Amino acid sequence: MARDWRTRLIHSEARAPAGFRSMTTPVHRGSTTFFETAEEVCDGSDQDNPYRYGIYGTPTTLELAARMAELEGGTDAIIVPSGLASISLVWLALTQAGGHVLVPENAYGPNPLLAHKLMSRFGVETQTYKHDIGDGIAWLIRDNTQLIWTETPGSVTMEVQDVKGIAEAARDRNVPVALDNTYGAGVFYNGFEHGADIVIQALTKYVGGHSDLLLGSVTVRDAALLARLRDAYNWLGLSVSPDECSLALRGFKTLAVRLDHLERATLEVARWCAEQPEIEQVLHPALPGCPGHEIWKRDFSGSASIFSIVFCDGFSRERLLAFVDRLELFRIGFSWGGAGSLVMPYFGPNRATKLYGERLVRFNIGLESPADLVADLQQGLAALRD
Ligand SMILES: Cc1ncc(COP(=O)(O)O)c(C=O)c1O
Repeated sequence: MARDWRTRLIHSEARAPAGFRSMTTPVHRGSTTFFETAEEVCDGSDQDNPYRYGIYGTPTTLELAARMAELEGGTDAIIVPSGLASISLVWLALTQAGGHVLVPENAYGPNPLLAHKLMSRFGVETQTYKHDIGDGIAWLIRDNTQLIWTETPGSVTMEVQDVKGIAEAARDRNVPVALDNTYGAGVFYNGFEHGADIVIQALTKYVGGHSDLLLGSVTVRDAALLARLRDAYNWLGLSVSPDECSLALRGFKTLAVRLDHLERATLEVARWCAEQPEIEQVLHPALPGCPGHEIWKRDFSGSASIFSIVFCDGFSRERLLAFVDRLELFRIGFSWGGAGSLVMPYFGPNRATKLYGERLVRFNIGLESPADLVADLQQGLAALRD
């Protein structure tokens, strides 16, 4: 049937030639996806179709999910719009009114914030526990405990946790343990081997690797937990853009070389910092003196790109800010895992200030030459010595 050009703009028979083979995953976009027959929609068989509507995923987003499950050693993963969305999905899927949740004192700040500001409104009580509690957590688990969060190391104060000890105690009481494995990147730390039931990661950091995307993953290897997480994911509409996922899939290809460089460069800069008279403490999990260093040696196969320094007592707020402002290669900004080095002073009402006063600065080391980064820190400190 001859059709009007307007119709052919929508229903074209023109096709590109077949046979294109490339190294990359195609970017599949789509909100609406088609069914072959009306019956499929009416008899409910579409419920098993992962592509029944774009919000549930496209081949691009589900390939990233499969790759994350493989990387973390789980069976299934769900991809969400940010690392923080991974955290909120776990909270919303696994807790309910009357429940009690345990969160470590060194957790990524927005996690306890969500607990106290949002989950409390739904009748979920949150209790903070000490980072070095290990199997002593058994004493805090109640009959209504619904979830235990772990994070190792903390991403500002850098304490390494004994997730294994916590998970063993939790298993005795049948409480799921969620791990924020962003630092370990699914490479340096095997969350499931250490007993976690749910492993989340901010793909924004190492998998993305270029500070140009926001994504998160939630990985499991238990069908019942997956069902609860997937239901909540579907109800909340936490779908992700295939463009972001395509960038994250590209990030996989360079993750190993980036992490190799970042580990070496970060250790070089951290060791240099440890020798400076103005710096009292270097909080890097692979260096002695970092809380939980012995556990890091036992449990981790490598270290990543963030560490913090604590200036000596008496180093004023003004001097610290002047030092940060003088740096040329380190840009002042949140997040980590990208190609460029970053610096961030931690002031205000947070754990870093409580423990160290206004003397803590966190660095993210990027892909620049470590010698140039050291030179930059050197000139920043030298200016304060004048
Ligand atoms: C340990 C940790 N988890 C989760 C997140 C959240 O990631 P996103 O920035 O993708 O929301 C961050 C962000 O800085 C983080 O440091």
